[in-house]
Amino acid sequence: MSTTLLPLDIQAIRQDFPILAQKIYGKPFVFLDSGASAQKPRQVIEAMRFVMEEQYANVHRGLHYMSEKTSDAYEVVRDKVAELLNASSRDEIVFTRNATESINLVAYSWGRSALKPGDVVAVSGMEHHANLVPWQMLRDSHGTELRIVGITDAGELDWESLENVFADGKVKLLSITHMSNVLGSYTPAERLAKFAHERGAKILLDGSQAIVHRAVDVQNIDADFYVFSGHKLYGPTGIGVLYAKREILDAMPPFMGGGDMIASVSYEKSSWAKPPHRFEAGTPAIIETIGLGAAIDYVRAIGFEAIAAHEQHLTEHALATLSQIEGLRVLGHAQDRGGVISFVMKDAHAHDIATLLDRQGIAVRAGQHCAEPLMGRLGVSSTARATFGLYTLPEEIDALATGLERVRKIFA
Ligand code: ALA
Repeated sequence: MSTTLLPLDIQAIRQDFPILAQKIYGKPFVFLDSGASAQKPRQVIEAMRFVMEEQYANVHRGLHYMSEKTSDAYEVVRDKVAELLNASSRDEIVFTRNATESINLVAYSWGRSALKPGDVVAVSGMEHHANLVPWQMLRDSHGTELRIVGITDAGELDWESLENVFADGKVKLLSITHMSNVLGSYTPAERLAKFAHERGAKILLDGSQAIVHRAVDVQNIDADFYVFSGHKLYGPTGIGVLYAKREILDAMPPFMGGGDMIASVSYEKSSWAKPPHRFEAGTPAIIETIGLGAAIDYVRAIGFEAIAAHEQHLTEHALATLSQIEGLRVLGHAQDRGGVISFVMKDAHAHDIATLLDRQGIAVRAGQHCAEPLMGRLGVSSTARATFGLYTLPEEIDALATGLERVRKIFA
């Protein structure tokens, strides 16, 4: 693993993120929306510039110098992702556009080939739409059933509900977030994988939020599928990852047809390349993939132990500070939670909170966070949400608290 630097020198880290030096409406830019998409360090920007200016051609297609160099740089990122996740093989890493596409790939390819009508896919009550809608689409086109595992008021998985959902032995896949994008709750991935496997089901973990904050070991978890997006991990948009166990990928038919995913093609028929290329039709996101490689190098050089410790400190500081604000309620208080904090305020709509904070240079997300059913479970129409990254300062949380006091006074 990487060298761990404790404690983190956040001011030095911030120098790597040019955008953070900006002023917004003449005020310091306080970016508390990393959960939606993280800012990019110079190392990522530079890696992408280098590809475009000095080392670019299409990959896997050319026998010329530039194509070979670019193909090598592109394929090295597969090794970096395999190391990041501790996958047993680089062939278990499929590049997609984002976590959403990764889940759709599984639903379309594995779902339609491995599941029969009547089989059950279970998701939790705190999923992002990306881990709900594809399973509804599979249900509607393929006749599978979709069941929802309840959550507790604390924002943790309800194990009694989980037992009930699995009771008749029909569940073939538990597809669940590894960290809620609304409540910040982590789900106990290893325990859930064991639970699913003992009952003959596979497990997919949506690691879009978790991968940013903690070291993930898919072999230790015994995950069948693990998905994430590059852009939340300080990398660019347009590149995501699907990890799946080799034997599962081997049995999956292609998701899309086209160049680069075939073994041979005639007018009559085609045969498929082995995974992962079977699932990567067309020219891939070459520049973005190389950017993701630089992002992985960046976070691994800092070390997940240090990142997790820093963010844990920020989260505790935020929960303590925000709890002082009259009329503010944080949603969810899971035992195991990270730097994603959703809240509501008496008499102030989440959109008003976000707009007023914005005028003070503070960026938070407001709305349903692509988790509309969860809003219903929480009994709210929307929330404001502050999310932290490795560059977040405790002082920025203090600025948020000051901003929220102003909001409170306006609406009082
Ligand atoms: N899924 C991202 C979020 O939670 C966009 O904000």
